[in-house]
Amino acid sequence: MGVALFDTSTPLGGLRSELRAAIERVLDSERFILGPEVSAFEREFAAFCGVEHGVGVANGTEAITIALRAMGVGPGDEVVVPSFTFYASAEAIPPTGATPVFCDVDPETYCVTAETVRAALTPRTTAVIAVHLFGNVAPVREIEALGVPVLEDAAQAAGSEGPDGRPGALGTAATFSFYPSKNLGAFGDGGMITTADERIAEEARVLRFHGSRDKVDYERLGMNSRLDELQAAILRVQLPHLPAWAQGRRDAARAYEQAGLGELVALPRAERGASPAWHLYVVSHPEVERLQAALTAAEIGCKAYYRTPVHRQRPMRAWGAGLELPGTEQAARTHLAIPMSPVLTPAQAQEVLAAVRAAA
Ligand SMILES: Cc1ncc(COP(=O)(O)O)c(C=O)c1O
Repeated sequence: MGVALFDTSTPLGGLRSELRAAIERVLDSERFILGPEVSAFEREFAAFCGVEHGVGVANGTEAITIALRAMGVGPGDEVVVPSFTFYASAEAIPPTGATPVFCDVDPETYCVTAETVRAALTPRTTAVIAVHLFGNVAPVREIEALGVPVLEDAAQAAGSEGPDGRPGALGTAATFSFYPSKNLGAFGDGGMITTADERIAEEARVLRFHGSRDKVDYERLGMNSRLDELQAAILRVQLPHLPAWAQGRRDAARAYEQAGLGELVALPRAERGASPAWHLYVVSHPEVERLQAALTAAEIGCKAYYRTPVHRQRPMRAWGAGLELPGTEQAARTHLAIPMSPVLTPAQAQEVLAAVRAAA
């Protein structure tokens, strides 16, 4: 039968009339940019995360640039970022004027650790980007204990739970992406910055709007990076369902574990005290290319997302040359995402398992 790598349409099936009504509401309002839907979604999403402020922006990449700038990062500064992540985590740093400094990850959790971050700190470090990769929850408190502000890149972790609360409320600030395939996905691009710090929230609001509060006086060189009313209205319909969808992702992971997948491939290890809403379910295997080919032949969706780590991508070479990041290289060489969604059934998990067993 085959199992798709992810399923974004089934969870939305029962919400179609509510989604249509939300879209109509925006059409009728004739407010399309930074209106009441965005303000309401900012409040609702921040409350969901357990933090005071939400600032809607155009996407998860610009959310990082704006959040770093609002945290005071600028020219001459260094920002520590893992190399095993989506390229945008690092790409968002140079537009602030700062330079990325790549650190390693633990290849079992795919996240940074206090030790890997410590190895990359210098007197010029002004922030660390802790990526909650694949929905796991990076150890933010332990990194903060090193004495550096942490920006959570929570693009993949909406709905996850950490030992100290939800992503979005763990660091100095956090950023989210609402790219359609994310745990909470818009029907286009969208992003959010969350923070408990009113000054950072205020600065982010100014930066997303050309560096201005009123489009008359311009305080900063800002950006045009706004969440639009249609996307906010669509996301508001979905947000109340995020906890159930997150649970569906946890149940899918449990189905894989209970079926014995861990005897065939290395399963992702949740961080201590974390309950990840796995965005991608990423296993590893020493002969991963053979596994990938066999799963593809069996029509089991699978994908290697980050085979070349960010520090070895061409535009990053100036900052990544000569670096040795063994955890990153191992993860890059051996990882493979297999099917994961809020509606993955135990029968589908069994089908994936059978295909892995036949290949491994
Ligand atoms: C870890 C991570 N950071 C940042 C981003 C950037 O988000 P966007 O695609 O909304 O710009 C993404 C997603 O695409 C991501 O997965």
